[in-house]
Amino acid sequence: MQQYSDRMRRLDKTIAFVPTMGYLHEGHLSLIRKGREIGDSLVVSIFVNPIQFAPGEDFEDYPRDLGRDLELARKNGVDVVFTPDYKELYSKEFQTHVNLKALPNRLCGISRPTFFSGVATVVAKLFNIVKPHFAVFGRKDYQQIVVIRQMVCDLNFDIEIIGAETVREPDGLAMSSRNVYLTPELRNSALCLYKSLQHAQNLISSRIIDSKKIIDSALKMITSCKDTEIDYIAICDPQTLVDVKKVDRKALMALAVKVGKTRLIDNMILIP
Ligand code: PAJ
Repeated sequence: MQQYSDRMRRLDKTIAFVPTMGYLHEGHLSLIRKGREIGDSLVVSIFVNPIQFAPGEDFEDYPRDLGRDLELARKNGVDVVFTPDYKELYSKEFQTHVNLKALPNRLCGISRPTFFSGVATVVAKLFNIVKPHFAVFGRKDYQQIVVIRQMVCDLNFDIEIIGAETVREPDGLAMSSRNVYLTPELRNSALCLYKSLQHAQNLISSRIIDSKKIIDSALKMITSCKDTEIDYIAICDPQTLVDVKKVDRKALMALAVKVGKTRLIDNMILIP
């Protein structure tokens, strides 16, 4: 992989990179299409990164279908699919992690305290291996992009991070590899995530801007759906992720909800 990237760079070709854990869906493909537009060469990685899963999370069960992914990659103009082996990335002696001080202490990082260290570490490694000029990430994982942008700035990676809008099913459910875990009944319940975000924006449009009131209303909507368990609902500053009391400027509303056993996340920028 490094030799390929060195060769591209010697030829003055730009490299666009889309890191993924595979089981590609339209969300991933939208990133891939964006990458195709901006780089001369397009690299996609598929690696289910064990160090971003905590014990008891779904690392073993995480959906995988490399054959199908390779076909989708080919159809969408990907030049290289990088599928490193676990042992290649993490030797027995592996001991270096990338840890951010503040951003991981919020939102998803509260219930998944080792998650962002796992993400930042693997993305730093992938950046050093793929050596891209551009890397595309989805805003569906909003906190992940904020963390990656901070890491790129702090560690002087010479890479431009590009954000891509969340791709949704026609009924509003944010696409996710984990949606395959949902039975039709649970999938129906899962619609409450997006509906509660839309409802929040409606409240704001009718001048209810108090975060607590908006969160309470979302809480009621979500708990009234079957088999849901809220991890968090937050309204915060889109850059620092610190909670805001009022939505008197653009704010991020983010939530994580367990639907059955599947933890889903979604978010929306609220605009007063
Ligand atoms: P994964 O969940 O496979 O997602 C790969 C990329 O696809 C991420 O940038 C994510 O934000 C984006 N994505 C997922 N669903 C999307 C949707 N519905 N719309 C738009 N983009 C979407 O995120 C990871 O993998 C990993 O943490 C990774 C960055 C690869 C590090 O292991």
